[in-house]
Amino acid sequence: MSTARRLDLSEVRPQIDVDPATCVYHRLAPASEFAAGEGRPFTIEGIHLAVFLYEGSFHAVDNRCPHMGYPMSKGSIRDGVLICHWHHWEFDLKTGGCLLTSGDDLKAFPVEVRDDGCAWVGIPPGEKEEARLRLVARGKRALEQGLKDRSSFLIAKAVAALRQTGATPQEIIQQGLYYGAHKTSDGWSSGVAILTLAANLWDDIAEDDHNLFLVHGLTQISRRTSGSSRRQRFPFPRANADQNLATLKRWFRTFIDQRHHGAAERILLTLHDRDCGKETLADFVFTAATDFYFTGDGHALDFANKMFEALDYVEWVGAREILRPIVVDLVSRTRHEETSRWADSLPVLESIFSRLDEIWEDNQSNEATLDVADFAQVMLGDDFEPILARVEAALRAGVPPAQLCRAMTYASALRTLRFHLKNEGDWHDVANIYSYAHALYAAFDYAASKELLRAIFHGAVFLTYLRWLNMPAARVPRHGQKLDEHFASSEAMLQHLGELADFQKVFEAEVLVSQYLEEGRDIAKLRHALAHIMLREDAELHMFQVLEAAFRHYDLSSDPQEKRVHLLAATRYITAQKVMKNILWSTQNAERLQRGELLSERDDDD
Ligand code: FES
Repeated sequence: MSTARRLDLSEVRPQIDVDPATCVYHRLAPASEFAAGEGRPFTIEGIHLAVFLYEGSFHAVDNRCPHMGYPMSKGSIRDGVLICHWHHWEFDLKTGGCLLTSGDDLKAFPVEVRDDGCAWVGIPPGEKEEARLRLVARGKRALEQGLKDRSSFLIAKAVAALRQTGATPQEIIQQGLYYGAHKTSDGWSSGVAILTLAANLWDDIAEDDHNLFLVHGLTQISRRTSGSSRRQRFPFPRANADQNLATLKRWFRTFIDQRHHGAAERILLTLHDRDCGKETLADFVFTAATDFYFTGDGHALDFANKMFEALDYVEWVGAREILRPIVVDLVSRTRHEETSRWADSLPVLESIFSRLDEIWEDNQSNEATLDVADFAQVMLGDDFEPILARVEAALRAGVPPAQLCRAMTYASALRTLRFHLKNEGDWHDVANIYSYAHALYAAFDYAASKELLRAIFHGAVFLTYLRWLNMPAARVPRHGQKLDEHFASSEAMLQHLGELADFQKVFEAEVLVSQYLEEGRDIAKLRHALAHIMLREDAELHMFQVLEAAFRHYDLSSDPQEKRVHLLAATRYITAQKVMKNILWSTQNAERLQRGELLSERDDDD
């Protein structure tokens, strides 16, 4: 677990005083060309300046308002006070000092009129890097403020500024994850999950959508945090630290069972403090997540997996906070042995779990392969008993558990693809099993164990409970089926895909994607288009989860039909959801301001 550079939101305000004697002077323009009181913009070696002639003297300041970047050259001066015309922040024209209590100062630069009759501005050495640091500091403060204020626009502004100044996605994601884990007393939230998905899907989305993806995750985090910190907890003292792992694991499972989340948290923190390793931590968490039946409709296991992916991505920086929320999920989410829905499957599952030691031993000592496509059809059966028997037989024969997870993910994609729109209120169920099956596939990579085998049986039962969502089954595009339209290029097809999504023409969108795949067109562009359709909406977590499961299992498979099903399932899920576009508009506005464009000049058709 190495350390990575971390954004420090408490960084002090950068020093902006300038010593004229150290400056290098640059010619601006003949002094006679300046009109009294009017600002003129200049760019000197990448540094943006607003220069004013006021009461016979020249003044130069940073041209970007420290509030939200509006050009100060468009501001006006009243009694020596420079006023930004967007939100009317006021600054001392001479020094750049901000007249708001908590506002940032503008940097001011010396100007002199030389014998050639021209105005010359003094730029201090290293000003370009200083300007970058000012923007980074501003971005960090704006990010924290945006998170506190729950403002998508402030968050988007901060993300645009941070990215332009060279902050890495890892730094921004780490800050968001830390804030999201620390500033709440709840469990793992959709916001931190989306931010983790942003990390996982970074290479699957177009560069133009990267900021938007970050804003989605950060906005969701801001909506689910209170601003007050999680109660402090600490690892056990190091003296006499002779508890072995078996004891700690037994205690952890007992405390989770008793819903004693403070004690369970201390055990996780102790494991981390003693460098017990990722596999041990994962084993503890996945075991506790599967000690109960399909905890939280699979979310406990799914979020546990996301937590480990997130920690790996940020190289375990801030792990002491990021580890903690999952305990809340483990203790507080629904345990399906306590629900009537699962009453019929409990005796069957309990009987299987009484043989878990033997199943695990057989699995570890035998070797077998699985036809993923065939077994996906088995898992789509109506009756869970014979399906569970087939799962047990496959495990005893030595099929790697991850192969069964792949079959479950394929079956979940088919459930999604055949989801009839009349079931509209139940979309989350197919998303849950699809994401759960993918998470389980990943979990076996983190920490395979006999306890984790139970999760395969849980998922197999839940898949049968969802069979009603495919009755009647939605039609699936036939091989060779096409829309009755001619497309000059892949781009034209994908643009039309976006239009079909706008009008929720779900089946037509699937036909178009099927045609795109059969014509062997560029898959990366299709991924970009599907991700963009999702990101331009105020998408909720399930849409992101479905996209990730579809993309990852498309990559894992060499079967053209399985690949096709995953992408059609993602298309169906994403085009069928109707949501708003507020996050897109906030991000676009913020990016325009960052580029120095005026919102008043935006074209609202795009
Ligand atoms: S006051 Fe200048 S951008 Fe808001």
